[in-house]
Amino acid sequence: SLPGETPSDPSGAPPWLTQSVESIQAMELMAFDRDICQCLNCPLGSTRKNFVFGSGNPQAPVLFVGEAPGADEDEKGLPFVGKAGQLLTKIIESTKTWKREEVFICNVLKCRPPGNRTPLPEEVEQCRPYLEEQIRIIRPKLIMALGASAAQALLKTKDSVGKLRNKWHEFEGVPLRVTYHPAALLRFDGYKKDVWEDMKELTAKYQQIKEK
Ligand code: URA
Repeated sequence: SLPGETPSDPSGAPPWLTQSVESIQAMELMAFDRDICQCLNCPLGSTRKNFVFGSGNPQAPVLFVGEAPGADEDEKGLPFVGKAGQLLTKIIESTKTWKREEVFICNVLKCRPPGNRTPLPEEVEQCRPYLEEQIRIIRPKLIMALGASAAQALLKTKDSVGKLRNKWHEFEGVPLRVTYHPAALLRFDGYKKDVWEDMKELTAKYQQIKEK
């Protein structure tokens, strides 16, 4: 494939799809990606290498939402593939409930902010409708917001993670939990126990929902 082009799968599946292309959700997500992947609504469109739509299972029971692509994600066009991403995979799989490829993972921003700075409010405003539409298509049973950017964008609040943790919230009827971002965990491992407890709450709720 040409530089900047994603190698194409003979089945027509995009590289971010971990399950079959045949579900309604897969088809809708693929169409939505095609609609928005050339976005130039904010200045990040002209500095990105790759648009990072998200990755995983279009019929995921749980959606993990991070902040924005970093350098590794921008390079590969896939979310959470760098150091924080490897830790996120461990966190997900430590639950013994889901494999990474069974969930869906995306970010509030689909393009990398230069130098990995925190997204600006106007970038979040421009990009949030994309995340909201992804949630409407996937209809996950649960959402886990990773860090302040995701929590604040989805809950339309300025409260800190410390304040938002330890309770259930809702996004358009979907139960939502807030925990620390895996990158914060890499800087300060004192958050490890808290993240573990938040993941236990998430899986406990999932078992409850499944039994109904
Ligand atoms: N941090 C994020 O918030 N998202 C990524 O995709 C990678 C690192």
